[in-house]
Amino acid sequence: MTVRVPAKVNLWLGVGPVRDDGYHDLVNVFHAVSLFDEVTAAPADALAVTAAAAPGARVAIEGVPLGGDNLAARAARLVAARLGVEPRVALAIRKAIPVAGGMAGGSADAAAALVACARLWDDPADPKLDLDALLALGAELGSDVPFALLGGTAVGLGRGERLTPVPAAGPFHWVFATADGGLSTPAVYAECDRLRSAEGVRAAWPHEPPELAAALAAGDAAALGAALGNDLQPAALMLRPSLRRTLDAGAALGALGALVSGSGPTCAFLAADAEHAADLARVLAAEGVARDTVRAHGPVPGATVLDAAAE
Ligand code: C5P
Repeated sequence: MTVRVPAKVNLWLGVGPVRDDGYHDLVNVFHAVSLFDEVTAAPADALAVTAAAAPGARVAIEGVPLGGDNLAARAARLVAARLGVEPRVALAIRKAIPVAGGMAGGSADAAAALVACARLWDDPADPKLDLDALLALGAELGSDVPFALLGGTAVGLGRGERLTPVPAAGPFHWVFATADGGLSTPAVYAECDRLRSAEGVRAAWPHEPPELAAALAAGDAAALGAALGNDLQPAALMLRPSLRRTLDAGAALGALGALVSGSGPTCAFLAADAEHAADLARVLAAEGVARDTVRAHGPVPGATVLDAAAE
């Protein structure tokens, strides 16, 4: 049983004040892109997780935790507990999504594990775990997990887990510039709070610009590029100043939009079309402002079971 699951880029990440539970209220416009991890689940004597780079992918696989803390392992235990079975499964993760890169790779693997384990253990004649149930389990695992199940383009409120799909004509063509070493999501949120308090800025209630929804609905890449925004970007740049050069290089090459993806350090560039994306990817790599560049398009569906013929 193999499940394919996409990375995300945040088209808009409005970060509100910190809440009593330590999380921030968000207006988080997620967009799923065609950069996929695959998780294969096979019956085994005990829960085990392995991770490898997908063929041709240059991901820093050593950054993936393989113990009980692995988010996919936690997903398997959660599904098993809900269905009253033992989590006897071997999860083999093949990664193309950057590790700790701000593209929700760990959350994607957890979403894939939820779907795969539900398929393995649920009763097909009388399933207990429908999509709504999986979305709720996903929200227990992490703020970005429910979106990896849903895919497409969606706005997430609350921690980002309360999702409403957003109509988006596509495809939009993207280039992602990966960086050496990840950034810790909690550290980036903490730096965002620190910068705001140092500057005496009170976090406003987050909002989403109306231009963004209009650009998505119309499939207008130039308008979408102008409407992108990420409240975590100043914090990511403070923690990783070299990203400024990466963003500036993409903007100088005519990217329609250039921003840090989520909590970073991956940078996302919106291209006018597939050919422009190929040029951007090639030149950014040649200029040495990224560890690697990868192209992808969006929106794409969320976690999907691959049929045996496709595996
Ligand atoms: O939900 P998840 O485990 O992915 O969140 C990781 C961390 O990111 C949290 O521990 C928190 O520091 C930060 N976060 C936040 N507000 C959110 C989502 C995440 O502060 N809405």
